[in-house]
Amino acid sequence: MKKFTNAVVYRQKEANEILVDKGIIKTIGSNLGLVDETIDLGGKLVIAPYVDPHLHLDYVYTLSELGQKSAGSGTLFEAIEMWPKFKENLTIESVKKLAIKGIRDEVSQGVQHVRTHIDVTDPKFTALKAMLEMKEELKDIVEIQIVAFPQEGMYTYRGGLELVEEALKMGADVVGGIPHYEPAREFGEKSIHDIVKLAIKYDKLIDVHCDETDDPHSRFVELLNALVLMEDYGTRTTASHTCSFGSANNSYAYRMIDLFKKSKMNFIACPTENAYLQGRQDTYPKRRGLTRVKEFMEEGINIAFAQDSINDPWYPMGNGNLMNILDNGIHLAQIMSPEVIEKDLDLITYNGARCLNIQDRYGLEVGKDANFIVLDGIVLLM
Ligand code: FE2
Repeated sequence: MKKFTNAVVYRQKEANEILVDKGIIKTIGSNLGLVDETIDLGGKLVIAPYVDPHLHLDYVYTLSELGQKSAGSGTLFEAIEMWPKFKENLTIESVKKLAIKGIRDEVSQGVQHVRTHIDVTDPKFTALKAMLEMKEELKDIVEIQIVAFPQEGMYTYRGGLELVEEALKMGADVVGGIPHYEPAREFGEKSIHDIVKLAIKYDKLIDVHCDETDDPHSRFVELLNALVLMEDYGTRTTASHTCSFGSANNSYAYRMIDLFKKSKMNFIACPTENAYLQGRQDTYPKRRGLTRVKEFMEEGINIAFAQDSINDPWYPMGNGNLMNILDNGIHLAQIMSPEVIEKDLDLITYNGARCLNIQDRYGLEVGKDANFIVLDGIVLLM
């Protein structure tokens, strides 16, 4: 039995001690008595570990390591067109070498859970094989959830749908998709139907790159939400990005917000990445590339923030610091009122855990895994 004492425990005003036994939180309180080992936390803040629910670990550092100096024009679609040149030379060893740099960036700054989208539009499954190995090798320091992600499309890439299905059989945890990249709306919609069918068939979670564009006519989130609502699969589903929802008109948006509440579907926004990628065809005013984070929080719809990229063709920066993502995100989403700011830290912790469906064992509560991080700051959190 271990005791962590002299702690400020996140959202538990009366507690200053945590008792841990065999990796599980036994008690949170004060004056918890003598135990085998006591660790003094010096009055610092204890919170649940950061969750990065959307990261491309097979892309990290490819921009500089694969000899490219520029990410081109900075649009999403140009980056997707550039990617095949990058990936043709990948090996299992090269993917692992760069991915470990990204994982080190994240874990060293407090992340303990990562959902990574791995490109499976590759008949050799080079990146997927590398990541399945890493998931097992690193399981004691970081939990990695793998999305079978068809970067070049389920239909735009010949055989893409079959490759996603094969990746699920190989061990991917989550079905991915990219409907706004398919060559016509009909195919984007078909991909959403196939994603939901595959998830149910293989008992997997869903996380779709959904409407990552400023075009308000890109409304694949509507179909995804409807299908998972009808299948009662919303809590196991995430719509990532949904940038176009930030450009939708209000009467459509509020109708959809009601439906999102019914399905209980999760959302992920990538504030730094999409602030960089979106608004590229705007002159001024220039859009922020962000979905309706503030409204989702106000309506109790689960939304988390994520890093998305670290130095890849889509985004030249990034360092796995979730606090930086949160800092940028709360500015872009304008969520700093006294009522909302107390919930902001959840965007990189508890809300991401719900997207990953690990909330049953994640968090600072008795009976849950004793994973937590210790921070200097306590301002505004108590
Ligand atoms: Fe992404």
